[in-house]
Amino acid sequence: MALVSRTPFVGGNWKMNLTHARAVELARAIDAINSASGNRSVDWAVFPPFVHLGAVAATLGERSHVGAQDCSAHSDGAFTGQVSASMLAEIGCTSVLIGHSERRHGLAESDALLSRKLTRALDASLIPILCVGETLLQRDSGDAHAIIQSQLRGSLAGHDELALTQLIVAYEPVWAIGTGRTATPDDAAHMHRTVRQTLEDLYSARFAQRVRVIYGGSVNAKNAAELFSCEEIDGGLIGGASLNATDFGAIMTAAAARVGQ
Ligand code: PGA
Repeated sequence: MALVSRTPFVGGNWKMNLTHARAVELARAIDAINSASGNRSVDWAVFPPFVHLGAVAATLGERSHVGAQDCSAHSDGAFTGQVSASMLAEIGCTSVLIGHSERRHGLAESDALLSRKLTRALDASLIPILCVGETLLQRDSGDAHAIIQSQLRGSLAGHDELALTQLIVAYEPVWAIGTGRTATPDDAAHMHRTVRQTLEDLYSARFAQRVRVIYGGSVNAKNAAELFSCEEIDGGLIGGASLNATDFGAIMTAAAARVGQ
């Protein structure tokens, strides 16, 4: 029986891992597992390093479940080392991560910058996956919910509801990423309610109910089912465990269980 009407989304963030050959091999293995499962009820994408995007997009074919880990805030020009959203769309990307904590916190990317990246992603018709998350210090000081509200308000500033119909929000507490320490389903669900309430305050209840809010931070094949059984958690953004096709497949299966498959 369906828990919610939002289609679950599972993303595999490969970060700066894998040789070219291993990336193509992993894409093939994930595609094979997914085809064999016959599961059509989960939206999914992998996020390889830029240099592997073309090959992974070609491997996954027209279903093109491929996204980028970042895009430039500029449309084109003299921006050495940057990659534009339209270039990503041209080689088959359908989505892009905006403000992953390894950029928001790791590279001090501001809300204002992320808002401009969001503009570029939307202009290129990429599905934006806007990441928000608090540090351990912010959580321990009791500021976590205020921080998430402020990141959402800042990154979404200047964007109207109509342009954001495809928006996905990923709640990824910084202290849970790559640490093996996962937020409890209750903690994650609580924060997802804050995300949805903030979207409602900024836009409308209808919009807030439609947006998928996914969880990231040490999700693996063992804990995914419990996290995804929470009505508020519409899927996951997976780092380490997405580098193993069997584990990533199991996580997609856990997400499919939300819609009763
Ligand atoms: P992790 O990473 O699953 O390895 O914690 C999640 C992410 O950074 O998206």
